[in-house]
Amino acid sequence: MSLNVLRASIRTGGANPLRRASQLHRSAFRSNFNRNFSTPPPPAPEAAKSATGLYLGFGAVAAGGLAYYLLATDGGKATASTAKSGVQAVKVKANFVPTKEDYIKVYNRIADILDVDDYDDGSYGPVLVRLAWHASGTYDKDSKTGGSNYATMRFHPESQHGANAGLNVARDVMEKVKQEFPWISYGDLWTLGGVAAIQEMAGPHIPWRPGRIDGFAAQATPDGRLPDATQGADHLRHIFYRMGFNDQEIVALSGAHALGRCHSSRSGFEGPWTFAPTTLTNDFFKLLFEETWVWKKWSGPKQLEDKKTRSLMMLPTDYVLVQDKSFKKWAKAYADSQDLFFKDFSDVLSRLFELGVPTEQFVSPEPWTMPKVEEQQPVKND
Ligand code: HEM
Repeated sequence: MSLNVLRASIRTGGANPLRRASQLHRSAFRSNFNRNFSTPPPPAPEAAKSATGLYLGFGAVAAGGLAYYLLATDGGKATASTAKSGVQAVKVKANFVPTKEDYIKVYNRIADILDVDDYDDGSYGPVLVRLAWHASGTYDKDSKTGGSNYATMRFHPESQHGANAGLNVARDVMEKVKQEFPWISYGDLWTLGGVAAIQEMAGPHIPWRPGRIDGFAAQATPDGRLPDATQGADHLRHIFYRMGFNDQEIVALSGAHALGRCHSSRSGFEGPWTFAPTTLTNDFFKLLFEETWVWKKWSGPKQLEDKKTRSLMMLPTDYVLVQDKSFKKWAKAYADSQDLFFKDFSDVLSRLFELGVPTEQFVSPEPWTMPKVEEQQPVKND
């Protein structure tokens, strides 16, 4: 085991020796194998193959139409180069029809670059999950605008929205992958990044399928569509009902805060929610019930800290999950059963990542299960 792996595992394993052991196993496993395809991946479904042509055709028409629209509406100055690169991207696509195996290669590349020594808790995973969620969570079911289809966070001013502070880190990481696989759309890449990060951080499979197309700045969403952590239950419902989710789904999605941390330089808030911020567990819910949470005395925005260690945090919107009766019922259910949490989280995250994408754009009628890296290793015969 390399020193780096050991260091990263100790850093992220926290106080729990069991968790540390599982992390060591996972990291060692990951570093010991070549992620690039040791076994042939499952064949692409027939439906996917045939629908890909449709998707390519649609992509070309959409890009052409959008280019025309934008050139007509802004005189073509600001968007001319974007339109040009969009057209080039479509050309690349026209010469190359990616299969499920190609997407698995992208998945593996993302998995490869998750672990890093000099960033946060040793992984880009959490910030990639946040990128995928913020790209999708702008969806408005009434106007059918926003969502992951066009990856509009690439453009000003959406890239500068307060809620997206710090996501340039994740976009830059994804850009390296895009250079290697120029045929993939940004929306597909970012959501696949979220899927790979969750799955490789010991989470459940998140069914996913490609089909998103690159859009233009004019399709960017207005500020204010993502949740504000200083608010309460009414606000959470207002934001997530707009995307089409219910109370149970709001709570399940919030369980992603088992991962990562707040950065005062980004959101103003500070600290991690759990002791193992690079492993998905139901600890976020367990800690909400098991710890005593008190308001942190500091000059930053109102946040809670655990009375025992003062090293963990909860946002006001996290704490609401144990104060509101309807939310609390689900938070308790997820604290009691990680299996239930994983099942519901997988279901709702898969749908979150598809918000705003017209069904006919997807290359497959059903989402795919992307195999985790460890599942791609050859099966040992006794
Ligand atoms: C319920 C409403 C939500 C609010 C108010 C909220 C708010 C926040 C805030 C303030 C941060 C800290 C950002 C920073 O300072 O770097 C954060 C981080 C994060 N959020 Fe949320 N969030 C919400 C829902 C979600 C959902 C639905 C997901 C994913 C399914 C998610 C995943 C994450 C992750 C993984 C991080 C850590 C990022 C990192 O470590 O860089 N959040 N969130």
